[in-house]
Amino acid sequence: MPTSLAARLQGHDMASAERPVSGPVAELGVRLRSRLPGDRRFGAPIQAWYPVVRASRSRGVSRVRLHDEWIDLPGAKGETPGLTNCGRWRLTERFGLVWACPAGSAAPPDLPSPPGAPLTLIAYSEAPARADYDQAVLGLLDPAHVPMIHDSWWWRSQARRTKTKAYTPSPFGFTAVAADAFASTPAYDLVSTDRKVTIEFRLPSIRLERVTARDFDLINLTTVTPLADGEVVLRNLILCSAGALRFAMPMLSALGRTFLRQDIAILERLEGRSPHLPLVFAGDPDRPSAFYFASKAALSKAQREDGDYRNPVAPEVLKWVT
Ligand SMILES: [Fe+2]
Repeated sequence: MPTSLAARLQGHDMASAERPVSGPVAELGVRLRSRLPGDRRFGAPIQAWYPVVRASRSRGVSRVRLHDEWIDLPGAKGETPGLTNCGRWRLTERFGLVWACPAGSAAPPDLPSPPGAPLTLIAYSEAPARADYDQAVLGLLDPAHVPMIHDSWWWRSQARRTKTKAYTPSPFGFTAVAADAFASTPAYDLVSTDRKVTIEFRLPSIRLERVTARDFDLINLTTVTPLADGEVVLRNLILCSAGALRFAMPMLSALGRTFLRQDIAILERLEGRSPHLPLVFAGDPDRPSAFYFASKAALSKAQREDGDYRNPVAPEVLKWVT
């Protein structure tokens, strides 16, 4: 199902550098492939930190929903939100968002650290969707996602090229570093052609893209929050060291909403169909999806057994043509 499902629904095929797959992630792929369709293959969303509301808006919001439970926000009556304890839920603030985590959760992953230097918010967008949670998370990982779903000319190169990314394990997930000039969006050429782009995925559903160039830093954060079974909220925000870009926030936020609408359009086409489609992990383009399922399984096991999280991802260089 993962990578290439979205591509197939769009009528495309994705070329990959085929090669033998081995190791624990490959074993997971074999296990998933052997399951019968129609079951709840990947389990419920993990008990962990999820963003539930934008911090600047939290005073006007009395309650939020997570895992099909309502959380009353203590700051709703004009006081400063109590970001440490809220009944059964722990709350905290990071990247300008309020995050919630069920108080009884065992060993939830740490949230990523904010940047050392203060960055300016230049875009924010959020949108609810009727979607399978894991399918929405795969949209953060799938190499086919951007060229097939976000296909605006200014965001993706129209020419098909081999892209190479080096994946390494990172806390509660994995990080990809673009290893060639074509592996990140051409829009970043506006920043610098001499840039470093890293994309960290951290459980449960945090995609953190960092762009570093001379005198320039940018963070692009995308998350999936499970409201209830079959209901999620997608969020995206961009922070940047170029403070003047805050004046472009309305335009950049509108572009972000366009992206989320594209995500939702494909997710709603998939809703209800995912459990009935065959699971196939085929070559390099599906490795990040396999990393995700292996990572989620490892964290579920650690939480169930109250043990340490053992990262199942080993360093790999992956190539694909998009
Ligand atoms: Fe997307």
